[in-house]
This record gives sequence, C-alpha cells and structure tokens, in this order.
Amino acid sequence: MASNPFLEGNYAPVEEETTALDLKVEGSIPESLNGRLLRIGPNPVGPVGEKHHWFSGNGMVHGLRLREGRADWYRSRFVRDDEVCAARGWPKVPGPRFSPMSDGGANTNVMAHAGKTYAIVEAGNNPVELDYELETVATSDFEGTLPGPFSAHAKRDPDTGELHVTGYFFGWDALQYIVVGADGRVRRTVDIPVAGRPMIHDCAITENYFVVFDFPVLFTPEMIEEGHSLPYRWHDDHGARVGLLPRDGSADQVRWHEVDPCFVFHAMNAFEDAEGRVVLDVVRHSRLFDTENFEDELDVQSLDRWLIDNQGGPVKEQRLDDRPQEFPRHDERLIGKPYRYGYCGIAIGSGLFGGLLKHDLQSGETLHRDEGPDRFFQEPVFVPRSDDADEDDGWVMSYVHDANRNAAEVLILHAQDFLGDPVARIELPARVPFGFHGNWCPDA
Ligand SMILES: [Fe+2]
Repeated sequence: MASNPFLEGNYAPVEEETTALDLKVEGSIPESLNGRLLRIGPNPVGPVGEKHHWFSGNGMVHGLRLREGRADWYRSRFVRDDEVCAARGWPKVPGPRFSPMSDGGANTNVMAHAGKTYAIVEAGNNPVELDYELETVATSDFEGTLPGPFSAHAKRDPDTGELHVTGYFFGWDALQYIVVGADGRVRRTVDIPVAGRPMIHDCAITENYFVVFDFPVLFTPEMIEEGHSLPYRWHDDHGARVGLLPRDGSADQVRWHEVDPCFVFHAMNAFEDAEGRVVLDVVRHSRLFDTENFEDELDVQSLDRWLIDNQGGPVKEQRLDDRPQEFPRHDERLIGKPYRYGYCGIAIGSGLFGGLLKHDLQSGETLHRDEGPDRFFQEPVFVPRSDDADEDDGWVMSYVHDANRNAAEVLILHAQDFLGDPVARIELPARVPFGFHGNWCPDA
C-alpha cells in the first residue's frame, strides 16, 4: 500500500482513549477560566485504504477541563459511530439519523449549545450529543426539529444566541439555511437550490444577511467506485459565487455575486460597512481537490477581504495577507459585526501549523508566533477576559504538539502579549493528533 501522509507522524491516530487527572501546569491558569477547551479531529479506528482521505476518519474528541486555576482533567474519547462501535465491541449508539446512509459519526467540530455538547460534521450526519466528560450519548435531531444533516460550522449570533448554519447533503440539489434557537431547537430552515451538489464548509452572518457559499468543489460519484473516501473534486465549469440572503428572506431572495474561482473553507468574519456593503474576510484557496495528490490543498492560500455590494456586481477582492494560513478565528462576541483582530494558524501543510498569526485588521500589522521547528500549533481559540472586556483583552488558547516529547500541551497566551511568555502551559500525557476545530465551552 502506498504511504498516506495523513497516517504518519502526529497525523497518525492514537489507539486508546486517555483520562488524565491533575495535570502539570507551568505558569498560572486564569481563575476565571472555568470550563472545557474542546477540540476534535479524525482518528481512524482501523486500517484504511490507500485512497482514504484525512477528512473522513472516525472522530475523536479531546478536552481539557479548567477550574479555579487548576487543570482538572484531560480526556480523549472516540465519537462512537457504527464503525468505532463494531471495532471496539461497543453497543450501537441510539438516536435519530436522517439518512439510512449515516454512520452516526462526526469528526470536524465540537461545540456546546443550549446546555449540551455536540460533535458535528457536514454533508450527511446528524449532530452527535456527548456528555460533559465526552462520552457519546446519542445522535441528535435537536428534539425532532432538524430535518436533515447539520454542518461543522455554526455562527452564533451574539445578540440572540441563535446558531446559523448551511446544511448540505450529497443527495440533495439544495443547500439548507438552518437557524437553531438558543433553546436548542431549529426554528427555521430555507432550502436554497444549487447546481452540482457543492461542498459547502462554512457560512457567515451580518446584521441583515446570511452569507451562502457556492464554490467549484462538487460531489463526484464516480470517485466512490474508484475507492476514494471523500468523493469531492474541483470542477472548472462550476464557477464560484457568494449569495446574500436577507436573514428573514426566502430562497428566491438570495442575490448571488460572482467571484474568481477559488475555494473557501473558512470565513473569519463578516459585517456591513457604513455604505451597507458586506465585508467578508476569508481564507482563499486558489484551487482545491483538483488532483489525487494529498498535498493539493497547498495551492495558493491567503487571507482576503471581499466587498459585496448587494445592489449588484461581482465581489471586489483585496488581499490582506499572502502567507498561507487557515483556521481563522476572532472574538466571537463580534460575529457579524465590525471587528479588528483575527487569529490563524500559519500553514506549513494540510492542517499543519508551524505557528500562529495575530492580525490587526485596522493597522494592517500581523504578529507571528513561532516556537521553533518542533512545535506545531492547532487551531487558536480566543476567550475574552470577561463578558464586557474589550476586543482582544483575553486569551488565545491552543493545543500544541511538541515533537520532542511526542505529546501535546495546551498554551494559554494573553492575546495582547501574543509573542510573550505564555500565561500558562499545561502538559498533557498523550498526543493530540493534528485535527480540525474546537471551542472553549464555559461552565454554566
Ligand atoms: Fe472547518
């Protein structure tokens, strides 16, 4: 079998779940950080084929629980999809599945909402409810209110507490705009017809609009017969566009705006400027999945600002930073609103970050935190110091892989001392494989 780079080094899965109590801490953990720093990524439970794609491994969720200045525990747990349960002899997980093809898995993001914890994924599975200590409870359809699949990226409106997402399924000729109320129940869905069954990873909101993506990476069924675990490929003839849907509008009110063909996994944020244009900050990939080469995501990647005038016309593109970067985050109290600071990983491979970037989008200054060739960062998460702290007054937290120790740690940086000594460094007793996304989930 040809080697698969996503099964080697710190991409390789860990075989066992870990529980570790009272972790070693250098520095001091801010006492106000009471909650869990959760993240998730692929962790294949068994042997995989040559055309296995990193994106399609079984999920494993990792969590660090902080309380009153202590690091109480670190836990890693499989998301108990059908394959994991069969491999480990565990009983099948209960709960609804919108499609008979669902395997009950999720590997892309983990969030807390309405008092529950969910592992989530796009393209065909329900959310998976986890308990506080990350054991799988059940698949979920939000109390019978979610008609189809969910998404790996939900935008929480800071004013209402509602989640806004784009759901899609390879068997559907439409995307679905889904609004989940602060009570954890879906209150609205809008089916938006699209051609070609595109992969739609993220979305954005502004005060008045839901921002819909439509990029030329499409479901390609013949890839299933060829043995690919992720049957999506670049199609030159599809074009690329961004749609603005008035938040309370219907599908026929979406206005589409053409953009140069590219792919966007992630928006950093969006907002409306003084002229009412939508400002959308994205990590732009010049191409994606147009070969069988696993490294093809290393095209040209940049942080760009798109200006969209809903009176009409194509998207106006500006380059903010031409360094390859991904997993853009910001102070999420400002989702959909004007903001100044963003935090990203600086990419040296797919999901492989040699350091972190902090962007000041007002001054144009970017800081680059690099801790040397043996230190690999995962997605940064910003946590404000308090509910009413200024933007950027808080902590940037990240899991880090230390290649010398071949194990993970969690760094807590003060966002305003981004290049300085960490506030705290918490040593974990196991590897946390390179993976996808996570969030700080404060205790109630
Ligand atoms: Fe993502």
